[in-house]
Amino acid sequence: MSSMLSTSRGPSPKRPLSALSGSASFDPSDATHAADQHPVLTKGRVAVVTGAAGGIGSAAARAFAALGMKVALADLPSSSTQLDALRKELCAVVGEANVLVVPTDVAVFDDVCRLRDKVYEAWSEVAVLLNNAGIGGAQDGKRGTSWDGLEAWRRVFDVNLFGIVNVQQAFVPAMLHQENPAMVINTGSKQGITNPPGNAAYNASKAAVKSLTEGLAHDLRSQPEAPVTAHLFVPGWTFTGMTGATANAAKPAGAWSPDETVKYMLTRVARGEFYVLCPDNETTPEVDQLRIMWGAADAAQGRPALSRWHRDYKALFEEYMREGQALAADGALGK
Ligand SMILES: NC(=O)c1ccc[n+]([C@@H]2O[C@H](COP(=O)([O-])OP(=O)(O)OC[C@H]3O[C@@H](n4cnc5c(N)ncnc54)[C@H](O)[C@@H]3O)[C@@H](O)[C@H]2O)c1
Repeated sequence: MSSMLSTSRGPSPKRPLSALSGSASFDPSDATHAADQHPVLTKGRVAVVTGAAGGIGSAAARAFAALGMKVALADLPSSSTQLDALRKELCAVVGEANVLVVPTDVAVFDDVCRLRDKVYEAWSEVAVLLNNAGIGGAQDGKRGTSWDGLEAWRRVFDVNLFGIVNVQQAFVPAMLHQENPAMVINTGSKQGITNPPGNAAYNASKAAVKSLTEGLAHDLRSQPEAPVTAHLFVPGWTFTGMTGATANAAKPAGAWSPDETVKYMLTRVARGEFYVLCPDNETTPEVDQLRIMWGAADAAQGRPALSRWHRDYKALFEEYMREGQALAADGALGK
């Protein structure tokens, strides 16, 4: 690691800093065009994707390759068949030299250091670090609830929280040594913000991801010499293995496809946004906004915890949502 750090400044491909101010000409309606204009999401630069073997991760890897980026694919050794199929697919797009597969359990720090070393040995830089690997919370079919499922609590934190902590600790020091702009995108969840009852361990792990990513954003902007930004990527309901997708299952109308979610995310990070809350076909940005504000008001106003799901607050919450959505329809929400 130390030898890599001391030499990484040299090989980092240089791009004009003026490109940093190029976002004005970027059309957010088209992520591919956006990426053409963006100094990080640029042909020839390097994307690292954890949890790349399926769902949102493989959609992101395809999107990065479509931009002409070099892509490192990391997932569990047990996903080697899917990883190999994706590798072949991406090699046809960007060429064999520009795709790397590194079997990695993000919960294991040594695995993550090996991933970093392979990527820097091959390409000497990282432009996009997408922390996407995650699990839904069940361990041996059992979820971590308030007083049960201790093993599920441990595993979901090992993957969803410590997976990201491990990757940040391994990669960010090296990324800070690069001269080019770069970004870290951590994958949270609306469940980590509004905390709906039913999957306490998953919610808590994703709340921690929000917290650590906000801290990362602050710490990175205190390093003006190192143009690395952090982003919290919060998918909406996306049809993946985690949410019941199989080869034969049709996507529910309310869900987005992984491609839709990734395209939305890339558009928003290219605009420089920190909070990337993705809608889906069921939940609009306004509904998300109202739900988040209600949850924050529990603490601010001293209501019971999770009052949204408290029988005494049911009618009040429904009225709040009706009024809020009417304001949103008039374009007056938040004014
Ligand atoms: N699908 C949704 O509706 C949704 C909503 C909000 C957040 N998310 C988040 O999006 C991310 C991607 O999830 P997805 O929906 O694509 O699910 P998915 O199950 O299709 O993909 C997750 C990938 O992570 C990999 N993975 C699991 N544990 C790992 C580990 N220890 N090391 C390396 N890789 C590991 C899996 O093998 C899998 O390929 C997750 O962090 C998830 O929590 C998904």
